[in-house]
Amino acid sequence: MPVMNLDVNLNPDNILAASAHRNPYPFYAALVAGPALVFDAPRKLWVASSADGVKQVLANPACRVRPVAEPVPPAILGSAAGEVFSHLVRMNEGLKHDAPKLALQRFLAAVDLERVQARTRELALQAAEQGALRGPALSQWAFEVPVMAVAGMLGFDEAELPQVARWMGDFVACLSPLSTPAQLAAAGDAASALLGRFAKLVDASAARPGSALACLQQEAARVGWHDVRALLCNAVGLLSQTYEATAGLVGNSIVALATQPGLLEAMGREPGQLLQMVKEVSRYDPSIHNTRRFVAEATEVAGVSLQVGDVVLVVLAAAGRDPACNSRPDEFLLERPDREVPGFGHGAHQCPGQSLACAVAAAAVASLLVSGRLKDAASFTWEYRPSMNARIPHFTG
Ligand code: HEM
Repeated sequence: MPVMNLDVNLNPDNILAASAHRNPYPFYAALVAGPALVFDAPRKLWVASSADGVKQVLANPACRVRPVAEPVPPAILGSAAGEVFSHLVRMNEGLKHDAPKLALQRFLAAVDLERVQARTRELALQAAEQGALRGPALSQWAFEVPVMAVAGMLGFDEAELPQVARWMGDFVACLSPLSTPAQLAAAGDAASALLGRFAKLVDASAARPGSALACLQQEAARVGWHDVRALLCNAVGLLSQTYEATAGLVGNSIVALATQPGLLEAMGREPGQLLQMVKEVSRYDPSIHNTRRFVAEATEVAGVSLQVGDVVLVVLAAAGRDPACNSRPDEFLLERPDREVPGFGHGAHQCPGQSLACAVAAAAVASLLVSGRLKDAASFTWEYRPSMNARIPHFTG
């Protein structure tokens, strides 16, 4: 069995500390150069990090998004947060995944991205006017703007958007294994409030044929997805999938502007290139570093036998730096004709929100750039929020 070498001078200390580490990429490169799957005995995880290994795991039907015996984390079972979780396409396979996923995918593919970008720029500037935008205020802004933009796209009134952002902050806190009882209770309240608001928006959408939720319902009907409660839960899911991941993409884009030589000046001259920049950030320094799969039937991946109950950590961020997937992987290049971005997943569960996320992030960063708020970016300071899978900078000054 190939076993991960843990006693050389590695920094980060281990694979689960990597996403929040200052520079995990040399550590990832060493993993990519090794076998497709290695066993991390202390953490009882198989680790897949090469582009090929990652794709093989994500394409293997025996590798599921949840443990078979635990479709919903016990801590939220029975609460509104648990109900939302139980219906998310992200957390299901088969019947609760395939048709709903297709509906969400078609709905998101039809979104008018230019309109969402224009709205994002307005929201970004409004939020920025509330105070000096650096340090913790900048981090908060990076969380709020994308989720408000997507909530606005889904039909929430402007006045409600800050509340939606607060609910979402409360809701995603329940997804961590470290959540406290108070956080779990707040997540339940937030999920309940969001489900109630989405139910009202869905009712109102009957009288607004072109509205986003009317379109989502149309796509649902086309694929034979008639479970209205599941649709409401997945509407909440669109906001939760946006929240941390897009905050990370915005934050890591600001980090790129602060650290990549000449990039800030180049983007200042040509802000139209920001979308390219954000796409490269999502490969070079992505916000979601890993996801997990749970083995439901004995199977084999890259010549390694996996048994029922095994857990595989799929290191998407390492795969994005695999030279077999992207040439000159450690260079930040705006032009990459064949860019592969494993950070948005692969296979049946691949992210359907990639274009929306990049469009929103580019528009948010553009508003900072053109309003001159990034001119001192080189002096920004940050650390990374504690997380076992996400890379989200917390700006400190
Ligand atoms: C930078 C931002 C984002 C990143 C890095 C990201 C990344 C991902 C990844 C890696 C997955 C697959 C997880 C897995 O296979 O285990 C995923 C799934 C998903 N994402 Fe995103 N995402 C982002 C933004 C969004 C946005 C804005 C939306 C929609 C509004 C969205 C909707 C979804 C949905 C619905 C799924 C579940 C798909 C399925 O299970 O079939 N994501 N995302």
